[in-house]
Amino acid sequence: MVSHSLGAMPAKACDHIAEFTNLWVERGILAWEELLPEVERTATRIGRIIGAPTDTVMMHTNVSSVQAVIASCLDYRERNKIVFSELNFPSVSYLWKAEERRGAEVCIVPSADGVEVDTIRLCEAIDRRTAMVPISHVLFRSSAIKDVQTIVARAHEMGALVLLDCYQSAGIVPFSVEELGVDFACGGSVKWLCGGPGAAYLYVRRDRIPEFAPRVTGWFGHRAPFAFTMPAQDYADSVWRYAGGTHAIIALYQARAGAEIIGEIGIEKIREKSLRQTARVISRCDAAGYTLRSPRAPERRGGTVCFDFAGSELVAKELNRRKFLCDHRPSSGIRMSPHFYSTDEECELFLDEVERIKTDSSL
Ligand SMILES: Cc1ncc(COP(=O)(O)O)c(C=O)c1O
Repeated sequence: MVSHSLGAMPAKACDHIAEFTNLWVERGILAWEELLPEVERTATRIGRIIGAPTDTVMMHTNVSSVQAVIASCLDYRERNKIVFSELNFPSVSYLWKAEERRGAEVCIVPSADGVEVDTIRLCEAIDRRTAMVPISHVLFRSSAIKDVQTIVARAHEMGALVLLDCYQSAGIVPFSVEELGVDFACGGSVKWLCGGPGAAYLYVRRDRIPEFAPRVTGWFGHRAPFAFTMPAQDYADSVWRYAGGTHAIIALYQARAGAEIIGEIGIEKIREKSLRQTARVISRCDAAGYTLRSPRAPERRGGTVCFDFAGSELVAKELNRRKFLCDHRPSSGIRMSPHFYSTDEECELFLDEVERIKTDSSL
């Protein structure tokens, strides 16, 4: 029940990791002929899931470093305001706060209830001094879905850029980065894409690709990496200009199975089942008297249900000890995330176990 983090490993991931190691063993340095194209294969596979057109996605290793690449594109002389919600993922906030050393001014918009972002307040904070609006599509704390289109419309009206973190929506909520009109988007292979760590993606809206020259760069961002020219970067014209050094190729192999499975099933089908199961989880939480920390309205809810009660952290620990896998976050409570492979019975058993542990006076 922890698909918002490291969920069950696809059996095929082992085969793909073995494919990587076999290529290395058998072909040595020549394996690069097969390994390097995996960067574009992975980008295409993930691009299909997030509605990104071909050749607009570049692979990296984690969201924090992707955001660093984008931050390094900005010049704060004309516009220096960075606007985001206090419910953003913390490492994203750390990264942008550190940009204050380069002249940025961070404006963090508070949330009234800790569950949802107030779109009007966020939009009001975006003005003509705003350079960037880094937003989370689905909030990790509550699974609330942000009103991305309204925020994008306001940001673009003010001449600001939008960077969408869709880590908690990709693979569980249908959307298209192209239709949302965001300038950049990022996420990774863990969570709803059923992969392990190390394969993060960056989407750049096609018309924006040539506009920026990231200071955080590397030889794969060069138009001819194997020419080894010196001293300055000569950026590639394509989305490769946003690449850095050598890719963590093995991470791309482990990420393949999850993205393929999600792509084969289709997000619409996954969403339909998810909404049915999470609605049932919510009604059981209501019946048990837990505090719901996720939106009740299905259209505003991602794949996770967060619920809380006194002592929830200890209950989550015990659940994990009993191999009812979940996690707990401060001010979110227990996060429960069934995915396409979770049965209705497993959801019921999980909630039965929560109640059993909660009422066990010996614990
Ligand atoms: C919305 C969101 N963004 C980013 C991250 C983490 O990013 P990174 O790849 O830098 O670890 C997470 C969770 O780990 C997340 O939930």
